[in-house]
Amino acid sequence: MTWRPVFIFSLTLRPLPVGEGWGEGHSEMNMKVTAVLLAAGQGTRMKSDLPKVLHPLCGKPMLWHVLEALKEVTTETPLVVVGHGAEAVTKYLGESAQTVLQEPQLGTGHAAMQAESLLKGKTDLIIVTYADMPLLRGETFKRLVETQRLNAGPFSLLTVRADDPRGFGRIVRKADGTVEAIVEEYVATPEQQQIKELNVGAYCFNAEWLWDALKRIEKNPKKGKYYLTDIVEIAVKDNLPVQAVVHDDFIETIGINTRVHLSEAEAAMRMRINRGHMLNGVSMMNPEMTYIEAGVKIGKDTTILPNTYIHGKTVIGEKNVIGPNTIIRDTTIGNGCKILESVIEGAVLEDDVDMGPFARLRKGAHLKSHVHMGNFGEVKDSTLHEGVKMGHFSYIGNADIGANTNIGAGTITCNYDGEKKHPTTIGEDAFIGSDTMLVAPLTLGNGARTGAGAVVTKNVADDTLVVGMPARAIRKVERKNRKK
Ligand code: UD1
Ligand code: CA
Repeated sequence: MTWRPVFIFSLTLRPLPVGEGWGEGHSEMNMKVTAVLLAAGQGTRMKSDLPKVLHPLCGKPMLWHVLEALKEVTTETPLVVVGHGAEAVTKYLGESAQTVLQEPQLGTGHAAMQAESLLKGKTDLIIVTYADMPLLRGETFKRLVETQRLNAGPFSLLTVRADDPRGFGRIVRKADGTVEAIVEEYVATPEQQQIKELNVGAYCFNAEWLWDALKRIEKNPKKGKYYLTDIVEIAVKDNLPVQAVVHDDFIETIGINTRVHLSEAEAAMRMRINRGHMLNGVSMMNPEMTYIEAGVKIGKDTTILPNTYIHGKTVIGEKNVIGPNTIIRDTTIGNGCKILESVIEGAVLEDDVDMGPFARLRKGAHLKSHVHMGNFGEVKDSTLHEGVKMGHFSYIGNADIGANTNIGAGTITCNYDGEKKHPTTIGEDAFIGSDTMLVAPLTLGNGARTGAGAVVTKNVADDTLVVGMPARAIRKVERKNRKK
């Protein structure tokens, strides 16, 4: 064993000199960063009974997307300012955020003021952003926070350069390049309207500075509202530098005011999600026509064919081929499955399952490996063990079907007597003839067989064949169009 020299570095702690970044002197570990989301506005231009921030984007409310992105940079529970539709928004948020009511809604500045009662003295940095900007990424908020950590001034804001202003506030800069003001479109002079740098609507404030500055915002004489954007001029008056993080991806800054914007954001989010899957090894023939909700997981070498919708808490393994024209929700799929034109909800498929076209799995369907399910079958609350074959037109409900059993075309588990559901159990290697009615509760043993059209009302022992009533001749009949 050899001895190595040990170096000891000494750390000197020093007070924060005036003019240095607000964040310096705090380590990333102990700096508290809290998000305040403004979500009290009516969203009039959406023309909807649903609060704007609850409108879904790739299956999740706008608000969810913003909160997800913010999670990457904040250390504390977010605070959402609610107003219009407060009850629905608060209910949706549950434990994921605290809320504060803004009533009446007197503008974005007034909305931010509502946060003081809950956050004063409790955080170092505050990100204020609008809940109608669901495409902003966590890494963008990170850049904003990093900028403010090093900023000697009281806040930093996110801007974007774009040719189409979409009604955004314009960023006015001084001759020396520092930010002087944000001018809202409706008050901008024709020259200011030409400005290509826009206010995205994401700010990172030093918390202690924010509360007093908000109180200094004056009511806009024309609109009778307090605009958060006026806070720039307050800092400028006090000779405090405002930092701008200039973003280059305009798509990310799409704010949603109308349903047209919503569909644009949906398309952008869809492509973002699909790109992520493709970069992880998933093939998509046409990603524009492949609809995968945020949060769905898909393994590599799986191919998703067009017009396929994958929703909810769905987890898909490797080497599957899914679609076209398939809808999957809240389902777990193993590896090597082929699913063609089918609808699947709340189900589990193990490996090498072969389904469709036109098959339907409902809640509680569990298809073990190598199950084959052909066209027009429906399975609910049932387990099909390894290698079960169910080729055509069957309904299987509340049943347990043993391995390698063959379900003939048109087999029905008659599981419901009008009042209650009853179970059906079939053993392994059974052979159910076409059009068998299995009147539950019912048990068929291993190797049991039923003849075509059997109506089975009593249990069947292992290796036993049961047959229904065969058709009998009743009388002679006239044949129409009989050739002479
Ligand atoms: C705002 C900005 C604008 C920026 C644009 C980017 C202001 C004054 N203007 O304009 O500079 O370019 O966003 O998208 O901030 N809200 C409340 N309470 C209110 C009013 C609004 O909580 O009293 C919320 C809304 O629910 C919404 C957000 O604040 O989520 C923004 O309000 P909105 O009316 O959409 O502002 P914009 O006109 O888009
Ligand atoms: Ca907006």
